[in-house]
Amino acid sequence: MATEILILNGPNLNLLGSRQPDVYGSATLDDIIVDLQAQAGEAGVELRHVQSNSEGQLVDALHDCRLWAAGVVFNPGAYSHTSVALRDAIDAIDVPVVETHLSNVQAREEFRHQSLVTAVCLGVVAGFGGDSYRGALDLLIRHVAAGKQR
Ligand code: DQA
Repeated sequence: MATEILILNGPNLNLLGSRQPDVYGSATLDDIIVDLQAQAGEAGVELRHVQSNSEGQLVDALHDCRLWAAGVVFNPGAYSHTSVALRDAIDAIDVPVVETHLSNVQAREEFRHQSLVTAVCLGVVAGFGGDSYRGALDLLIRHVAAGKQR
């Protein structure tokens, strides 16, 4: 069975392309996913993608993926800075999660400097626009291939 990875996106990321393009770039979420599918295909990995604006649906997606995913590339959006529920969900599953942000959250408003999920993630990729996802996926695939546990 092929290795499968979940690409999980949180609130407002469905608006990429039109949402603050000066901060988040002009690529749509579909553009990013198409690129990631090609990248994954070259690596022999299959992707599933979920985007939700609802915290509970993101928790459900994390729970569900423990049954099939080798890892998760996760941009929790604004919930990164607020959600104990997402932190606990990541901590509860035995699946490595890479926290991913388009923007460099440390270089922005102070309320974005704290992430509640970082401590339970494998690592963080931030600040490279759509390429943050590409980097996160590459690093996650390498991690999984090396057979590492988080
Ligand atoms: C974001 C950064 C968050 O602070 C913000 O709320 C987002 C997007 C990013 O990808 O840069 O929605 O996660």
